[in-house]
Amino acid sequence: MTGEFTDRGPSAVLIGFMGAGKSTVGRILADRLGVDFVDTDSEIVRTTGRSIPDIFTSDGPQHFREIERDVVLDVLRTHRGVVALGGGAVMTPAVESALAGHRVIYLRIDADAGFARVADSDRPLIAGDDPHARYAELLAARDDTYVRASVFVVDAGAGEPDTVADVILTRLAHALTGERVGERP
Ligand code: S3P
Repeated sequence: MTGEFTDRGPSAVLIGFMGAGKSTVGRILADRLGVDFVDTDSEIVRTTGRSIPDIFTSDGPQHFREIERDVVLDVLRTHRGVVALGGGAVMTPAVESALAGHRVIYLRIDADAGFARVADSDRPLIAGDDPHARYAELLAARDDTYVRASVFVVDAGAGEPDTVADVILTRLAHALTGERVGERP
């Protein structure tokens, strides 16, 4: 994808796997750009009044994905600031399609570094006997989709969140002037 973006919608959309730092980096990025930040997981919790593990366990993953799809499509239509998507949102075809034309950035993390950040969390998808293996397996299965849905890829393990946000700002500036945006790995 080259630097042709929609005038409507968010300034930037961060995608990537659990633990990549989408929310932390997204808040910093929003601050630097002087815009609001929205995390779609938080929007799901706010609009349903329920926790994500509760939706997963009581209603099942498919219902969670439907709620998530509706929340993400709404945020993409209405929000002008920075958005962080839940790690699995892009796997829903309607979400991947809706991302076309947006400034989508893939925060890529490797399995060891990413897992270390979420090992103690209550993420339902890595609950079970071997969460590290499950994490690595899901990440590998999704990487191609993250790359395909994004305008460029940033190494989220390469520095502190501030540094990652700086890299994104520089890359975005290039993207917005219509230059070819980085090499796809
Ligand atoms: C999920 C990632 C989580 C959350 C849910 C499912 C996934 O969001 O939406 O637990 O499928 O990767 P984060 O990426 O913000 O952890």
